[in-house]
Amino acid sequence: MSNGPLVFITGATGHIGFAILVLLLKKGYRVRVSSRKLATAQKLNDLPSVKPYADQVSFVETPDAFADAAYDDAVKDVDYIVHVASPLPDDSQTDPDFDVEQTYIAPAIQGNLGLLKAAQRSPTVKRVVITSSVAILAKKEGRDTVGPDDLAPVPEVKDIPKHPLAAYAASKILANAAAEDFVKTHKKLHFDVVHILPGYVQGRNEPVTSSRQLVDRPSSNQTMIKFLLGHKDDTPRPNDVVLLDDVAAVHVAAMEGPDIKTGERFIAAYPLPVSWVDVERVVKRLFPRQVERGILPLGGECPDWALHFDPSKTTQRLGVEFHGIEDMVKSLVGQYVELVEKERRTGTQSTAA
Ligand SMILES: NC(=O)c1ccc[n+]([C@@H]2O[C@H](COP(=O)([O-])OP(=O)(O)OC[C@H]3O[C@@H](n4cnc5c(N)ncnc54)[C@H](OP(=O)(O)O)[C@@H]3O)[C@@H](O)[C@H]2O)c1
Repeated sequence: MSNGPLVFITGATGHIGFAILVLLLKKGYRVRVSSRKLATAQKLNDLPSVKPYADQVSFVETPDAFADAAYDDAVKDVDYIVHVASPLPDDSQTDPDFDVEQTYIAPAIQGNLGLLKAAQRSPTVKRVVITSSVAILAKKEGRDTVGPDDLAPVPEVKDIPKHPLAAYAASKILANAAAEDFVKTHKKLHFDVVHILPGYVQGRNEPVTSSRQLVDRPSSNQTMIKFLLGHKDDTPRPNDVVLLDDVAAVHVAAMEGPDIKTGERFIAAYPLPVSWVDVERVVKRLFPRQVERGILPLGGECPDWALHFDPSKTTQRLGVEFHGIEDMVKSLVGQYVELVEKERRTGTQSTAA
């Protein structure tokens, strides 16, 4: 039984949060996992990367982030909070009149504020790590790269376009602004607040157990997989990709780092943008048999959306070096191929290809 420090994490049923959870468990932390549905979180116990650490994990349901004191009991006695949960853009949202505020903005802001308020009432908390996004940044005039302090202007809610990607980006900007305002207003907090800004995250998603789910579930992984399946996309997708494992490493390093100060932001992105055409080239080299057999038909189209983020502060301060596209392809496409091959062998599911 580990008696390591106790971490409270939200969003561990999802892509990034799960990777952080596993890394924390491997490092000997005890982790309290929260989810809007207890049963969803408890399912994590059955996954190979969590199973060996059953005595280090506990689960708590936080169904309503809007309730007063929503997280107070959940963060009792914890040393650290890692707040990952937030709505992701959902391309399948076809209703042009969807409620931007209710779907994206309010849960993102409320999640940050609810956890900061709970941390304020929990004297054991030393640091809160918030998963933000490079979407809160913007390129400054005359600069080639975008750094962690190049903040985008904060939009008015009424001006946010009714488009899932735009609404998502606005939700991250507004949630970041709300967290920073909270810190400014409450000057004597007994904990630090740091922000992690991932790029477009690619990598094996262990809680996903079918190829169909890897294609259909709104996720940054979805773009690469659909592209390799020949999907013609006319929406530009970010080229600031990053390996999932590196994103988890940045979160944990920022949680542990001795000299990290409140308000610091750390970009988690590969230092060079990667074109979607490069991805196809790497896949042909690493998975020639699967390309030939039509598991990866290729021929997809996806316009590049090239923003060049500079993660050098993250590498210098937290010691995280970023892996390139080969490792992202091995991780994510490797999982897709494993799932399809297993499904074909066992006849368990119609494949996505
Ligand atoms: N994926 C990327 O490329 C990327 C890039 C930059 C930043 N981020 C940020 O990283 C975080 C996690 O992203 P992800 O890719 O891991 O997403 P994900 O796989 O969708 O996981 C997000 C988790 O958040 C919870 N959640 C979803 N919608 C919610 C809502 N409306 N209210 C409260 N909780 C909600 C869900 O947990 P429960 O259902 O268990 O409650 C879900 O498992 C988000 O903050 C996202 O903005 C992601």
